[in-house]
Amino acid sequence: MNKYLVIGNPIEHSLSPLLHNHWIKKNNLKAVYDKKEISSNDLKDLIEKIREKNINGINVTVPFKKEIIPHLDRLTLDAEATQSVNTILLTIEGKIIGHNTDIGGFENAIKDTKYNLIGKRVLVLGAGGVAPSIIFALYKMKVSTVILTNRTKSKAEYLQNLYNEIIKKNDWNNIKVVDWGELPEFDMIVNATSVGLKNDENLDLDFSKIGKNKFFYDVIYNPKETNFLKKGKDLGNKIENGKKMFIFQAAEAFKIWHDIQPNIDDEVIKLLDK
Ligand code: ATR
Repeated sequence: MNKYLVIGNPIEHSLSPLLHNHWIKKNNLKAVYDKKEISSNDLKDLIEKIREKNINGINVTVPFKKEIIPHLDRLTLDAEATQSVNTILLTIEGKIIGHNTDIGGFENAIKDTKYNLIGKRVLVLGAGGVAPSIIFALYKMKVSTVILTNRTKSKAEYLQNLYNEIIKKNDWNNIKVVDWGELPEFDMIVNATSVGLKNDENLDLDFSKIGKNKFFYDVIYNPKETNFLKKGKDLGNKIENGKKMFIFQAAEAFKIWHDIQPNIDDEVIKLLDK
């Protein structure tokens, strides 16, 4: 029986086991997918378990996506660029590889909405675990500018620096960093903060003057409609939550481990409506 795991802290609310075990069953695989709350001290031992083939693959979530990197043998180009790993695999040559499927997850989720990002100005709120992948995906989808704002400005500046070389090499426009509270002109706004995970939480930003015909995207999918999305909708904007992103990143991880493209159908989408 092959064993897969999602690690993070906290982890009890993760829906990854529900989704992966659904696909495991649908594809008649002899495998099980579990969740485990860990601390930084556990990372080394867990990677050893992969090496010894006691665990076959790991998904990594907040706050370990960067911290796991020194324990791995190699990174894919995307994981290297974003310094963020959410999927780990042992190759047949015995190397432990870190992948980033959040990038593809976000990219596919946006494509799924049919929103055309080419030449758009995108304001990203937050510079935590998922922000580097979103920024990278936005540039890959040819936005004109990424504007980044985070309550703790230094974290936004860290990401700005992280992307300096890649941005120069690809001839992309620089990431602009603005103070928390400022809302410059944008076409799309992404909530990549954790604000909204609890129903009553509100971002302390004043959206009253932003107008309509924007796209409000929230990485959060539970609750389905955060106050951020409610506000966007009330102001006459297009909205989308992070559910498809979650499903697409999981599907990409499933493909990496099992070499099977899992079905994303209504059953899967309903499965997560808990
Ligand atoms: P981590 O900070 O460990 O990477 P995360 O859940 O990936 O965790 O990121 C949380 C994000 O939500 C961060 O950008 C955080 O801002 P700080 O860097 O200033 O902590 C943001 N965040 C959390 N609570 C917030 C709040 N009340 N207002 C604004 N931003 C908030």
